[in-house]
Amino acid sequence: MVVILFSLCVAGVTAQKNVVWFIVDDLRPQFVSYGQTFMQTPNVDALVSRSVVFDRAYAQFAVCAPSRNSFMTGRRPDRTQAFNFADDFREVGANWTTLPEHFKNHGYVTLGGGKTFHPNLPPNYDEPYSWSQDEPYYNFTDDTCDEAVSPVPPYDGRDDEICTVSNASALWDYRMASKGIEWMGKYVDRPFFFALGMRRPHLKSIVPVDVFESYPERDDDVPAQATFPRDIHNIAWCCNYSAKLNGTDVYSQGPWYQAYDNYTTSELRRGYYASVTWVDSQIGRVLTAVDNYGLVNDTIVVLHGDHGYQLGEKSCWRKQTNFELATRVPLLVSAPFLSGPKRVPYPVELVDLYKTLADLANITAPEPSVQGKSLAAYFDDSTPSEYGRFFSAYSQFDRCPSDTAVDVNNLTASDNVTAFHGGCSETAKQNITFMGYTLRTLDWRYTVWLYFNGTSLKGDWGDCHVADGFCPTELYRHGASEDLGDFERFEPTNLASQPGHAALKVKLHAQLQAHFQSDQ
Ligand SMILES: *[C@@H]1O[C@H](CO)[C@@H](O)[C@H](O)[C@H]1NC(C)=O
Ligand SMILES: *[C@@H]1O[C@H](CO)[C@@H](O)[C@H](O)[C@H]1NC(C)=O
Ligand SMILES: *[C@@H]1O[C@H](CO)[C@@H](O)[C@H](O)[C@H]1NC(C)=O
Ligand SMILES: *[C@@H]1O[C@H](CO)[C@@H](O)[C@H](O)[C@H]1NC(C)=O
Ligand SMILES: *[C@@H]1O[C@H](CO)[C@@H](O)[C@H](O)[C@H]1NC(C)=O
Ligand SMILES: *[C@@H]1O[C@H](CO)[C@@H](O)[C@H](O)[C@H]1NC(C)=O
Ligand SMILES: *[C@@H]1O[C@H](CO)[C@@H](O)[C@H](O)[C@H]1NC(C)=O
Ligand SMILES: *[C@@H]1O[C@H](CO)[C@@H](O)[C@H](O)[C@H]1NC(C)=O
Ligand SMILES: *[C@@H]1O[C@H](CO)[C@@H](O)[C@H](O)[C@H]1NC(C)=O
Ligand SMILES: *[C@@H]1O[C@H](CO)[C@@H](O)[C@H](O)[C@H]1NC(C)=O
Ligand SMILES: *[C@@H]1O[C@H](CO)[C@@H](O)[C@H](O)[C@H]1NC(C)=O
Ligand SMILES: *[C@@H]1O[C@H](CO)[C@@H](O)[C@H](O)[C@H]1NC(C)=O
Repeated sequence: MVVILFSLCVAGVTAQKNVVWFIVDDLRPQFVSYGQTFMQTPNVDALVSRSVVFDRAYAQFAVCAPSRNSFMTGRRPDRTQAFNFADDFREVGANWTTLPEHFKNHGYVTLGGGKTFHPNLPPNYDEPYSWSQDEPYYNFTDDTCDEAVSPVPPYDGRDDEICTVSNASALWDYRMASKGIEWMGKYVDRPFFFALGMRRPHLKSIVPVDVFESYPERDDDVPAQATFPRDIHNIAWCCNYSAKLNGTDVYSQGPWYQAYDNYTTSELRRGYYASVTWVDSQIGRVLTAVDNYGLVNDTIVVLHGDHGYQLGEKSCWRKQTNFELATRVPLLVSAPFLSGPKRVPYPVELVDLYKTLADLANITAPEPSVQGKSLAAYFDDSTPSEYGRFFSAYSQFDRCPSDTAVDVNNLTASDNVTAFHGGCSETAKQNITFMGYTLRTLDWRYTVWLYFNGTSLKGDWGDCHVADGFCPTELYRHGASEDLGDFERFEPTNLASQPGHAALKVKLHAQLQAHFQSDQ
């Protein structure tokens, strides 16, 4: 009896809660529990059944380095000034306390591995600041389709988008999960914060052959809308990626065409599904360890993607757009000591994670320049169900010309700008040409593409309705009753130029401009 009382006391009052944080590369909500019923994702689905699930959660920038600079620091891209693969937040935030560092400052063992920060952005995964130095950072080493992983048919080629392998334990996600389990065994007696950067479903689809073959070979797994809608300005489209299967590169003919033939489309999607199932199994190994150590009620488990993903919808592949599929991420937070399972329908943002985790772990408030909001109220049963009904989520994405076929300084709204899709990934922030800004409410998405001012690092909002008038806008209907599992039909029609929405557009435009012109 005495022993039981003692342990209740320790668990209930003084014990600090651990954190296990899965950051999964290129992960959209491709799970049974998110309506993708043909998937095999038992481990994440089990986590869903004990988590607060944020059904409308958005990345601030739909590509890796800018998004990670944002959520790892709790600052929006306009504050990190990291919009590309050249700049990182330490250039402007030399003394900022990152999210893991905040936990480290409160006595946690903070250990990281894989892609938490993007490699070298900031340098050396932010060592030594973010991590407690009990163990070295577990450096990311990407898989390659070579002897180490024992490639076997049907995709045993070295330079294909898919690679089927027989040695699963050689893959990064296996090694990352094993490292997390090893750390747990070693630091089980101290409060720990482990950030595990998982690689798949990012390309290439290097997966165990049995996982790949558990999804059928097809030639008809093609999105219902596989070309770019004509009523959306094509600056919104991205990108002309090559797809290589059987050693042959296939290129897109542009937004107005289905990017790849039906068989290639179906196989690339099959590779993504298999990658999600593979990473699900490795997440499951870590969650089993949490369970085996008896830590379920003492551990906050967080899982999300760094941004969403497109698998040929609207002729878009990968990320790098401002559309729903590229910006929306799965976001699960399990804190069973505070809350049972729940699904939150209101828009939230990855930048909210910092304050949320600090609150759930009951550590002191972050420094004032941390942005976003705490979502901790969702873990309190007394919070009204309408809480957050009017939240908005903000994202942005840049565009730079890849050639000089059009006069980029003098566009008209009807210009054909497929020439822009080279992207800005290596372009210094001062030289970015355009920025697309978007906001998501429960009911709508509104987007505007603007010239970018490389001095102020803001969109040229004043230019929108004057000068050359280049200011393409998009308006999409969403709403509480939309089918969030119907990935093929998000945002099918741009309502921006249709009659009847003028007042709404003015209102959303003002909200978007107020947000991005200030330094919120
Ligand atoms: C970081 O440096 C700035 C500029 O010197 C200062 O205003 C700010 O208080 C510092 N922040 C922290 C967390 O030390
Ligand atoms: C990780 O990479 C950094 C920078 O490249 C290097 O200094 C460090 O030694 C590496 N750590 C390990 C454990 O290999
Ligand atoms: C599989 O990979 C592991 C880890 O790299 C290695 O130790 C093992 O020898 C490999 N097994 C085979 C059969 O190649
Ligand atoms: C896509 O890229 C390929 C290879 O660079 C090129 O041949 C093709 O014309 C491009 N397509 C478009 C629509 O730009
Ligand atoms: C590709 O798939 C689409 C949609 O299922 C279908 O309409 C079309 O006929 C197919 N194309 C070919 C060449 O089979
Ligand atoms: C790849 O090769 C297989 C077997 O030869 C063939 O069935 C398939 O159509 C090829 N895929 C592509 C995309 O060419
Ligand atoms: C976790 O806590 C809940 C609520 O206090 C309790 O019902 C459950 O049995 C606990 N689970 C474990 C594994 O301790
Ligand atoms: C949170 O921390 C404060 C002081 O740091 C402590 O008084 C309080 O009991 C803690 N709350 C919970 C729920 O652990
Ligand atoms: C922009 O293009 C229009 C024609 O499309 C032309 O009349 C105008 O002079 C150009 N303006 C500049 C500043 O080049
Ligand atoms: C844009 O340019 C491409 C390539 O030149 C062409 O195929 C397409 O029809 C053009 N689209 C429009 C809307 O002019
Ligand atoms: C911006 O572009 C100009 C012209 O290409 C180049 O000279 C300059 O170095 C670039 N600025 C940065 C910061 O890279
Ligand atoms: C860009 O921003 C700077 C600093 O705010 C301002 O001085 C300049 O006029 C702006 N440039 C344009 C083209 O608006």
